[in-house]
Amino acid sequence: MKKSWYKEMVVYQIWPRSFCDGNGDGIGDLKGILSKLDYVKSLGADAIWFSPLFVSPQRDYGYDIADYRDIQPEYGTLDDFKEVLEECHKRDIKVIMDLVINHTSTDHHWFKEACKSVDNPYHDYYIWRKGKGKNGKKPPNNWLSTFEGGAWEYVEAVDEYYLHVFTKGQPDLNMDNPKVRQEVKDIMKFWLDMGVDGFREDVITYISKKEGLPNGFPIPVACGMEHYNGGPHLYEYLKEFHDDVLSKYDCFTVGEGPLLTTERALKFVTEGDGQVLKTMFSFDHLEADCFMTDWIKTPFNLKKMKKCYQKWYDAMNGKAWHTLYLENHDHPRIVDRYGSLKYRVESAKMLATMCYLQKGTVFIYQGQEIGMTNIELKSIDEFKDMITFNNQIMFNKLGIKGEKFIKLANAGSRENSRTPVQWNDGPYAGFSTAEPWFTLNPNYKEINVAAAEADEDSILHYYRKLLKFRKENEVAIYGDFKQYNKNSKQLFVYERNLDGVKLLVVSSFTEDSVSFKAPDGIDLSKGELVLSNYNDGELSGNGFTTKPYETRVYLFK
Ligand code: GLC
Ligand code: CA
Repeated sequence: MKKSWYKEMVVYQIWPRSFCDGNGDGIGDLKGILSKLDYVKSLGADAIWFSPLFVSPQRDYGYDIADYRDIQPEYGTLDDFKEVLEECHKRDIKVIMDLVINHTSTDHHWFKEACKSVDNPYHDYYIWRKGKGKNGKKPPNNWLSTFEGGAWEYVEAVDEYYLHVFTKGQPDLNMDNPKVRQEVKDIMKFWLDMGVDGFREDVITYISKKEGLPNGFPIPVACGMEHYNGGPHLYEYLKEFHDDVLSKYDCFTVGEGPLLTTERALKFVTEGDGQVLKTMFSFDHLEADCFMTDWIKTPFNLKKMKKCYQKWYDAMNGKAWHTLYLENHDHPRIVDRYGSLKYRVESAKMLATMCYLQKGTVFIYQGQEIGMTNIELKSIDEFKDMITFNNQIMFNKLGIKGEKFIKLANAGSRENSRTPVQWNDGPYAGFSTAEPWFTLNPNYKEINVAAAEADEDSILHYYRKLLKFRKENEVAIYGDFKQYNKNSKQLFVYERNLDGVKLLVVSSFTEDSVSFKAPDGIDLSKGELVLSNYNDGELSGNGFTTKPYETRVYLFK
């Protein structure tokens, strides 16, 4: 496979509101980010992906954009951003922006114009339909939003409904309108010409809706999705963005596509003439402890997770490049899920090892590198996210109320990843000098960056070692991947091979002792133990008995 900078890259994701507050108003901002760039660099990051920094009423915390070309005043100014960009580049850190073009905010001036009259030039920027039923009082079809009730909202001035597959404040753009596609291309150019290095393309697989907007299969949330996830003109539009803009820059792109299948991804990321995105995020490896959504928990199933990794590797290998991640701003923290709070440090190191020594571009979410954990909120007033409130209505209907619902929300909600980053054990965890906008996890007294810096055995220092190792050993980036012990419910064992160099990665997902025997043809005593989350690398015969959540990486040259 062709080598490329973005394949070797480690991306650190910043969700600005909760990263670091530089002006003491309790809200993360660009000044705060600027003060932490050396820290980000010290991790081994080659790029930062910024969740949306743009002007937004924050109904979906920036994923509802009111101005694509300016910065949310709470976060700073465009000049502040330019400074961050320059300081990133000085440190050899690339900058990747979130590109949210499936929808805007209702506060965007396009939408305000669109609501004025059906003849307004911006009206056709959005997806409008007449109501159904005798008096036109029923929505145009049965689609439901993912975030807030039905998918249609009535606007009296035009006597029509607009489509929103997310919150009411996020009207879907009409990508079939060539003017809208031109706007998108202009926005891309605006940021690329400023010097940014690429985009993370938000729910990009939703941008083309099936003609006629037929009724969806009746499910209680996101009904209609089959008619817009992977819609009819999706590839064509992505090709247009690629050919007209992206191909003219040496930039990176990663597309987000809920329920992404390997077949769909390959259409976009297969290297060669038809390629329209560099990489995509898949989701299914994060469904080994839940059913479809983080909110419906099932016992963690290692075999399920391993199968997903294998499936994506098999599909992509030799054709396309994939991504590796365990956390982002949409999911609960990974130690709470696939690891163990009792063995937090050990399991966090193990999870990073098993994930990031596979083949793909690395993504790390803020706080993951110190093993931040889920939050326990006590009452519904403490929650912030629209999904939580939408799910509350849904689960209440099913009789899951009060304490029971709070318990579910604490386990499954994306609020877990949005608590302020824990920098030290001082006031407000060093995140701010004022009360933060969202609850701090009280465990900041023990779990924080300063404590991790001071402890040689911390998760943070392990991340640095791991990422440095990956950077210095091509086998970890470009090597082939082969699994052993596929049927094991406790161990994930794989090797990577490149030009006669072999890496063997053994990871235990249990606190129980498991006896591991090296695969035929591998002599552990001949390998160098290059990474491990315990200090001794004792062998018994050609194998070892695992300690809780143990991980070992052997290098054979
Ligand atoms: C993506 C984002 C999520 C956002 C949604 C709507 O899934 O990651 O945070 O709420 O799109 O833009
Ligand atoms: Ca601030």
